Amino acid sequence: MRIALFGPPGAGKGTQARLLVERYGLRHISTGEILRAATKARTPVGLEAKTYYDAGHLVPDAVVRKLAEEAIAAQGYDDFILDGYPRTVQQAAWLTSFLAVHGKPLDAVLSFVLSEAAIVDRLSKRRVHVETGENYHLDHKPPPGVDPALIVQRPDDQPEAIRKRIQVYKAETQPVETYYRQRGGLVEIDAFGDFETVYQRIEAVVKAHAGSSSVLKP
Ligand code: AP5
Repeated sequence: MRIALFGPPGAGKGTQARLLVERYGLRHISTGEILRAATKARTPVGLEAKTYYDAGHLVPDAVVRKLAEEAIAAQGYDDFILDGYPRTVQQAAWLTSFLAVHGKPLDAVLSFVLSEAAIVDRLSKRRVHVETGENYHLDHKPPPGVDPALIVQRPDDQPEAIRKRIQVYKAETQPVETYYRQRGGLVEIDAFGDFETVYQRIEAVVKAHAGSSSVLKP
């Protein structure tokens, strides 16, 4: 099973990917998380990428492509959830060719649909545990009562960066939806609702695309 989660920043892609990983054993490949891990490890790629993502800009295609390629190859080209990749039509075209070479095309692209007001609410109220990387929401999933220094706000969840990310999404990422819609395989997911309600909508699609894949047995 090979699926991509597509949608605006803060739509809940990472949250839902983690639920699918827990329940289906798929591998979560998040280019955002890979970039943040590289920054934490202070690699040259990670340090350069941080200057882009903190301000809400996309990281250059060539950098992210290499990371995506390595992660997909490490997973044997199968049983993965891509989250945050592709984010430009150029990336989508490359991914289509790359997976075709290995005879492993995407089974489905799940496009999360959420209003801009809900996106801003989710991003501005997101908090992250610095050690586990777990995402929380001040209202819907309050952070645990641990040392407050362990619970932080991402720099790109500041108001100015949120505005920029939404702008970049509309200009550069939204055309990816048309790219997949024209090729078939794009399924819209209503991303508004509580965590489990959204998950049920996603699981229905995943089950429909499960085919003979043996890992899709929760
Ligand atoms: P990335 O980390 O991928 O950022 P993103 O796509 O903007 O996605 P987010 O992580 O912000 O949101 P999400 O949809 O995963 O939502 P979440 O589940 O956390 O990338 C970061 C940066 O890296 C990019 O801006 C870019 O610079 C760079 N980058 C990455 N990939 C790239 C690429 N391919 N090309 C170029 N650059 C790239 O949920 C958000 C909040 O809502 C949380 O608080 C959560 O608890 C809450 N929530 C989730 N679901 C619900 C629900 N159903 N109800 C209520 N609250 C909910």
